[in-house]
Order: sequence, then C-alpha cells, then structure tokens
Amino acid sequence: MSKHSQSEKERVIIFDTTLRDGEQSPGATMSLSEKIEIAILLDEMGVDVIEAGFPIASEGDFRAVSEISNLVNEATVCGLARSSLEDIDRAAEALRQARSKRIHTFISTSPLHMEFKLQMKPDDVIEAIERSVARACKYTDDVQWSPEDGTRTEHDFLCRAVETAIKAGATTINIPDTVGYTAPEESAGIIRMLKKRVPAIDRVVISTHCHNDLGMAVANSLAAVSAGARQIECTINGLGERAGNAALEEVVMAMRVRSDIMPYRTGIDTTRILQASRLVSSATGFPVQYNKAIVGKNAFAHEAGIHQDGMLKHSETYEIMRPEDVGIAQSNLVLGKHSGRAALRVKLEQLGYSVGDNRLKVIFARFKNLADKKKEVFDDDLIALMQTTPRDSDDEFMQIKYLRVVCGSESPQEADIVLVAGGEELRASSTGDGPVDAAFNAINSLFDHSAKLELYQVQAVTEGTDAQATVSVRLEENGKIVVGQSSDTDTVFASAKAYVSALNNLIHRRKKSAPAAASAG
Ligand code: KIV
Ligand code: ZN
Repeated sequence: MSKHSQSEKERVIIFDTTLRDGEQSPGATMSLSEKIEIAILLDEMGVDVIEAGFPIASEGDFRAVSEISNLVNEATVCGLARSSLEDIDRAAEALRQARSKRIHTFISTSPLHMEFKLQMKPDDVIEAIERSVARACKYTDDVQWSPEDGTRTEHDFLCRAVETAIKAGATTINIPDTVGYTAPEESAGIIRMLKKRVPAIDRVVISTHCHNDLGMAVANSLAAVSAGARQIECTINGLGERAGNAALEEVVMAMRVRSDIMPYRTGIDTTRILQASRLVSSATGFPVQYNKAIVGKNAFAHEAGIHQDGMLKHSETYEIMRPEDVGIAQSNLVLGKHSGRAALRVKLEQLGYSVGDNRLKVIFARFKNLADKKKEVFDDDLIALMQTTPRDSDDEFMQIKYLRVVCGSESPQEADIVLVAGGEELRASSTGDGPVDAAFNAINSLFDHSAKLELYQVQAVTEGTDAQATVSVRLEENGKIVVGQSSDTDTVFASAKAYVSALNNLIHRRKKSAPAAASAG
C-alpha cells in the first residue's frame, strides 16, 4: 500500500519511442496505417510524448511523423534529428501540423563515438550542439537534446555538452545508455552528478533512455528517476534496437505498484496496456515472450498447486497487481460457429483489441472459416487470428489463392500453388524435402529473391490435433530483416502464408528503404 497520496507523488513524463527506436529493431518495420493506429492508442492511453519517427531517414518516416502530427490530440509529437541543419529542418517540416511539437536532436559525445563514428574533435562536437539546438529553437520552444552514448561519456565533457545544450535553449536533456552498458547505481550517479555540476540544470527536465543489452533497462531508468530524472523514454513490449529499450508497461507498473518506495505518478491509463502490447506485437510480428513481465501470457497464470490454493483463499497471497489493472478482462464468453459479428467484437474488446468496421469484416471472415473447422474458438485462437491478419491489405502484393501438397513417407514431397501477385495469377509446382520445403520452393520459383531464411518456427496455439499452428518466418536480405506470421489449422498452409507474408514485407521494405540515409541508436 502506498503511504503517499496521489498529489504528493511527483509526475514522471512518459516519452514513448516505439515508433522510432522500437521500429529500428531489425524486422520491426511497420506500415503507415499501423503507426497511426499505435500513435492514436498511445495518445488515448495518456503517453505524454510520442516520438513518431526520424523524418530525414526516409520518406516513410517523414510521412508517419506528419500524419501523426495531424491526428494526435493530447500528446506532444516528437521528431528525431541528428545535429545537421537539414535534419532539423526536415523534422520541423514533418511536425508542422502538430498541436504540440518537440524536436529531439542528438550527437555522440563518448570518446569512442567521437573518434570513430563522427571523426570529430570534442570542440567541434560542442559547436554542433550549439548550432543544432539553436536551429531547433527557431521552430519550437520544446527542444530535447541527447548525448548519444551518454553513459560512456567522460563526466567533464558530458557536463560541458549538457551546459552548452541548455544555454542554446534545450528544455529537456536526455541521457541515453545507447549500448545498454550502465547499471542502476551508475545510472543514478550520472544524474546526480549532472544535477550537482551543471549550472541551470534545474531549468530543464532530465530524461533517461536505456537500452536493455544487460537486462537492466527498466532498473536503470527507475534508478535515474530516483536521482532526479523526470522523463523516461520507453517502448511498448520493450521493443527496440538489439535487446530493446526499457518497457513502458514495466516502468509504469513498477512505479504504480511500488509507489511506497517510488513516489511517482504517470498519466498512463494502465488498463490500456495489454491492448497496446497486442497491437504492437501484431503490427511488428514480434511475439511477446510467455513470461514477459506485465504483458506475457503467463504473467498472471498460477500453475503450482500451492500457489493456486493461496490465490483461491486470497488473491494477494501471490498477486502484486490485479490483472484488470493492466487490461486483462475476466470473461467466459466462448465463441463458436454460430457466433455473430457483434459477439466477436465484444470478445475482441475484452481481449484488448478495438477494431474498426473494415478490419472486423476481415477478421470475422477468418473467424467463420476457423469456426467451421474447430468446434470451439478459444481466446488464444482469436489472439492468433488478430496477430496474423495483415492490418493493411494494400501492403500485400502477393496472396495464396490455392495450395495443395502431397506428403507422406515417399519422397520427394510435392506442392502445387496458385499465387495472385500484383493482380496476376501465377501457378507453379515444385518438389522438396518435406511439404513445407516443397511449398517454399514453389513460391520461390514464382518470386525470385536472394533473401535468406533465418528462422522458421511453428507453435501450436491451443491443445488438440485440430489446434491452429502459428508460424513465424524471418528473412534476411542485405542486412535487412523482415518477418512474416500466419496461423491456420493446416500447418503447411500456415507456413506458406507466413512465408508469403514475409516476402510481402520484404517488398515493402525495399520500397521504403530505397534512399535510406540516417540511423540512430
Ligand atoms: O540510444 C540512443 O542513443 C538513441 C538516441 C537517438 C537518443 O536512441
Ligand atoms: Zn536508443
């Protein structure tokens, strides 16, 4: 129980970078409509600042930032920019329509990054900070500056750089642990050191941005807050480069559940957390690990007899937060082939999905198909359906119209396929070492590419021989990674659809990254 009243708790700003740092995660590319849907949900759930993209990096990023700027009602929309004036001008242009806008500009400050990445002298870096922040201030009075690789920066130089950014007009100073190297005590120490040594630091908001390479991103972020940071940069499901960023749901729930020792509050409506987690997972095709804190399938499951016994007597014996606090609805509505569209919508809402009419139409058709094959459609079946139904059919260049395989003990196995690609019907037959291999070979004979299959993974959604299988496929082409997911009661068909979905994402990715330019940690 908290010993602090709500008004006694200090407010921590939640800065979500799912659409920027999260999207930089290999394979996590999202379409424009997916980004918009996520931004609207982040806004509704009370995120304070949404980093919507890196406008100079690609046309796609620019468009995402400008469309999101148009649509978001409450949150501040932020665009990322390196220190070059073109980057900042481009970010400002993308943010033009935002009701409340922030430009986030950054440059590396660690000795390693300055020497090898930037090939710049420290004095030149200081000059670039001055110039870039001043330029950003021409467009907005909400300017954030970050020293990339901040936690590996020499303290004297970090103080000098931060002081320069504040003098030039920055209003938020964000300290990134770009490579996920720091530890809680050190993270807090850096913030304390800055508060002690940098003149005028009290005029700005100090922010923390932690990567999870050593599994300490959340702990490091909370330690920074305990030392005086008042903004946490985070992502839904901890999505992000390499091992990801601090997970929004974890930092928010940690401060809420342990407000007795962390007397801070956020503006987040925590009952929307599960919905956000599922939305990001289905948009990126990145499954949430079963034992992931707060949003994993098992986060509130009690299997051990002794735990179940305790739970039945009093839920707090083993539960530190209530499932409904993060949006897990308790319901016993089971769907079957006679269930209608209204029942499906209610059930999906209980599972944390809000679907518009068009998407409901597509999902309902798939649900009916599934219900014809299975007697009962369980919650997990619906979640699999939601996560494997493309959100945007415009992104689907190819679709499977027909697939037939011959399999069994006599090899080689065979596959006949009809693909509809760009409106044209294409047929192929192929053999392979097993039916999945034969199906993939048939698809490859129709769509030539050099992508390497990096992962092929099959998972049963529920129990029983009529269970759906969810298949994930990961492809790599020229260092770029794309994923595809699909589910079906026929494992081979699910595999072929997942493969085609990954190829569609590859086509989308090729288009999007044609003039690729910038990157950030
Ligand atoms: O990790 C990092 O350094 C970043 C910066 C751009 C803030 O993402
Ligand atoms: Zn980062």
